[in-house]
Amino acid sequence: MLDAAQRRRFHDQGFLVLPSQIDPARLAALRAAAVAIVDRFDFATHRAVFSTRDRDAGRDDYFFDSAQQVRCFLEEDALDERGALRKPPRLAINKIGHALHDLEPAFTELCRLPLLGALLRDLGARAPRLVQSMYIFKQPGIGGEVRWHQDAAYLITAPASVTGLWLALEDARRDNGCLWVQPGGHRSPLRERYEVDWSARRGALHQLDDTPWPTPDEALPLEVPAGTLVIFHDHLPHYSARNESTRSRHAFTIHAAEADAAWSPKNWLQRDRLEPFAL
Ligand code: FE2
Repeated sequence: MLDAAQRRRFHDQGFLVLPSQIDPARLAALRAAAVAIVDRFDFATHRAVFSTRDRDAGRDDYFFDSAQQVRCFLEEDALDERGALRKPPRLAINKIGHALHDLEPAFTELCRLPLLGALLRDLGARAPRLVQSMYIFKQPGIGGEVRWHQDAAYLITAPASVTGLWLALEDARRDNGCLWVQPGGHRSPLRERYEVDWSARRGALHQLDDTPWPTPDEALPLEVPAGTLVIFHDHLPHYSARNESTRSRHAFTIHAAEADAAWSPKNWLQRDRLEPFAL
């Protein structure tokens, strides 16, 4: 799938942008599938917010259990002081996670495309397993910032073996909160690690290294059209700004880990009930 120059670019830069990977009809089907999940979700019972402002202190059992389910998380700014929705659910939701690839047919079908496994193998994966999937809405006006982070902080394997794939379901521009990356930043140390103490069912983000996050000069915006796949290394610092525009910026993101790498028992994401999802 990838030529030598693309493989070299991934290893040099820590990411690769591949336009026109998924056709518009499938993108539309994925967006419709996500809306259908939101429409049938019980927001009266589950009113969980996803935010990165609190350094992940707000993660709870609802979040941990989403590892093996399809659960909806709301935008922080979608709730009023009394916790009521300010907007209809379709415009209030932050993301759906984290087992869409296992449990929702439209997403399973996408993840079964030979393309994904072939791309990962071209980049050196031997036996990639899909471990999580997320549908991110980045709502117009209120779609929250996702602070700088490295995905290896949240998906810990020994040795580190995680690769992220990010599919633009809509055009991503600076004004609607596109991804920003630090080219070459995958060679920088892992700065943080989020680990769960399962006896207390509490997670905490531990600082491992004081290397600063990229400055604006070091950051590159990935302005990409719908259908683009971005592949990124698990140590690549990335970020996305708040969506200040009137357009949403939907994306579907998945992470793969090597089958033979040791999965940390302290990872928030534990898949003990689902079958391994080999790519
Ligand atoms: Fe990330």
